[in-house]
Amino acid sequence: KQALTTPRLKAMKSQGKPIAMLTAYDYPSAMLAEEAGVDAILVGDSLGNVVLGYDTTVPVKLEDMIYHTRAVVRGAPGTMVVTDMPFATYRLGPEATLRNAARLMQEGGAHAVKLEGGAELVDEIRLLASAGIPVLGHIGLTPQMVHQIGGYKVQGKSSEQAERLLQDAKALEQAGAFGIVLELVTEELAAAVTHSIGIPTIGIGAGRGCDGQVLVYHDLLKYGSGIRDKKMVKSYANIGDTVREAIAQYVDEVKTKAFPEEKHAFTLKQDSAEASNE
Ligand code: KIV
Ligand code: NA
Repeated sequence: KQALTTPRLKAMKSQGKPIAMLTAYDYPSAMLAEEAGVDAILVGDSLGNVVLGYDTTVPVKLEDMIYHTRAVVRGAPGTMVVTDMPFATYRLGPEATLRNAARLMQEGGAHAVKLEGGAELVDEIRLLASAGIPVLGHIGLTPQMVHQIGGYKVQGKSSEQAERLLQDAKALEQAGAFGIVLELVTEELAAAVTHSIGIPTIGIGAGRGCDGQVLVYHDLLKYGSGIRDKKMVKSYANIGDTVREAIAQYVDEVKTKAFPEEKHAFTLKQDSAEASNE
């Protein structure tokens, strides 16, 4: 399978082919996402919430993103991998942002990066794009700003906010972003943004009018708990219950000595080939 490139992702918009993106954070999640046929993987800084157990994405470090991106790329060698630039590793001026984005690509193996923010990031995005670093924008609810925003609220409800979001989307496109994530905005606004720009919009909690969708792996599978509003999430399985029940059964079988059984044991009577763990 050939990895999707950013021009092919853009072409999907003009062809009206929906883009299915999913987050992944390690080797097995990436492998399963690729086998299931996702168009692109996001190594989201939601890593902080769903894998590392932080309350917000703010504590996530560049090194965390590099480490997890390497595992994802090993698990999904045929899939386009976009990695989030974590809190305060951009907005430091274009050169410092370029250095950090380059580390995600050179050390992590990411094919593209994602930054949260609008028109204020155009200089940084222009430099990244000119250096060969594809940039995915992210506007609407931007979780790295949670302490500034004061919660995970639907964005773009007032006409001033909606107008600003539309201008941000246009600025990101002009600066060279290859796509834009729209998070937690009204369906009306997301559709309007989608029609106003030539690059694909990828929605999460942004309704039915986007060019693609993205979900958090752990939300899709109900595997542990996410921070995101339940209303915007659809869980297609309940892996958390499955895992808990399996572990509880294991614990019970150890306590009752039901496991291990004779067939799991190695004995002196077996020949050496049998006694090896095969
Ligand atoms: O970190 C993340 O998972 C994200 C998506 C929800 C877009 O940024
Ligand atoms: Na993110």
